[in-house]
Amino acid sequence: MTKVTALRDFSDTDFNPFIEEALFFGDHDDPYAVLAELRSKNAAMEGDWRAVMGLSPDITHPPQARHFMILSYDEVGKALQSPQIFSNKAYTFNLGASFGRSVSTMDAPEHPRFRKIFQKIFLPQYVKSWGSSIVDPVVRELMADFLPAGRADLVRQFTLHYPFGVIYRQLDLPPEEGKVFHKLAVAQMLISFDREHGAEAAANLGEYFPELIAQRRKNPGDDLVSMLAAAEVDGEYLPEDVLVAFLRQLINAAGDTTYRATSVLLTKLLQNPDQLEMLRKDRSLLLNAIEEALRFEGPVLEQPRWSTQDTEVAGVKIPAGSIVHVMAGAANRDPAKFADPDRFDITRANASRHFSFSAGPHLCLGQHLARVEMTRAMTAILDCLHNLRLDPDMPPPRIQGAMMRVPRELHVRFDPA
Ligand code: HEM
Repeated sequence: MTKVTALRDFSDTDFNPFIEEALFFGDHDDPYAVLAELRSKNAAMEGDWRAVMGLSPDITHPPQARHFMILSYDEVGKALQSPQIFSNKAYTFNLGASFGRSVSTMDAPEHPRFRKIFQKIFLPQYVKSWGSSIVDPVVRELMADFLPAGRADLVRQFTLHYPFGVIYRQLDLPPEEGKVFHKLAVAQMLISFDREHGAEAAANLGEYFPELIAQRRKNPGDDLVSMLAAAEVDGEYLPEDVLVAFLRQLINAAGDTTYRATSVLLTKLLQNPDQLEMLRKDRSLLLNAIEEALRFEGPVLEQPRWSTQDTEVAGVKIPAGSIVHVMAGAANRDPAKFADPDRFDITRANASRHFSFSAGPHLCLGQHLARVEMTRAMTAILDCLHNLRLDPDMPPPRIQGAMMRVPRELHVRFDPA
């Protein structure tokens, strides 16, 4: 097979997007207290969530646009289900600037035309089979490195790497370029904050993927790039800009979010050892524990939208051309929907009614894969890490962030294998 030209790293090879990313998403311990206070005043109000949390503004947003927040469970649900009023054009400024023509930036009729192609690949029946063929080997390989030690930082040694490892294998990308891919995948999100590095990451990937697509068309394999390169819409290949945008988005969305969600689930279980023990004894609780972690600390706190017309939410007038911060994080802790919402409870009956995968036409396309990955990762941890507990000699984990949430470290002890 002809080799594709190597992926270009940042011109400053020491640039570390993982550090800068933390500055962009914030280091707040408890944005939920702020969201609860806002929501208690009204289900919607004028304001920019980033400004409320003391973060620098998104530099890609049109400066003249007004900002509004939607905060209650019912109003968040209605907004996400009303794409004709609350459009995904909001993403054209930031994600669109790095990914390009991604499905996240599209509205109907363009959006369903392309989404139906991508959706097919991530249907539960396909995704399920990746559990043993792809997810398990990635999980086991990473765990083998720390099993004998009896201690680990489960974030830096495990959760940060395994979802990225999974999508990387699905795309069948060269193993020696994994580190550069991971950096560029994450750095694309920095466009809202550090235009130079965000644009450089997107440009380097944009240079690489067309060559890869051409190569896989010539020599197809059973990987996702080959499948997407062969996919057709209305009798023609997918437009190259749409395909490249999807690949750019995929390596970011698939790696970053599941890493956060698994890290949060592990942290909450370790902070609530009675619930960890309950889960050990009854594995049938695992699916609900995953949903509860997604509800309690969904990795993505807000879904931005653009108002296409003058509208009104909970008595607040929103003019056309506003940025609307639809706060899934506030909805997921709304006491009108979830009893005792600030309690983490893996037996909660309606845990899965969260908006952490969004709702409406842009509902997360990778949600089935995310659940398979988290189930496999947790199963391996419960099977192999006996007597798992927080490391008393290390700093306790802190879940941080105002936009995206994650603990940056999770030090644990267990019986060495
Ligand atoms: C726990 C893990 C995950 C979470 C919490 C998550 C969250 C989300 C959310 C909130 C959205 C919608 C944003 C909006 O409405 O504005 C979304 C969309 C999307 N996600 Fe995920 N995601 C996860 C995993 C994944 C994975 C594993 C993949 C890839 C296989 C993926 C691919 C996508 C894509 C392509 C979209 C765009 C869909 C569209 O606009 O039609 N996600 N995700």
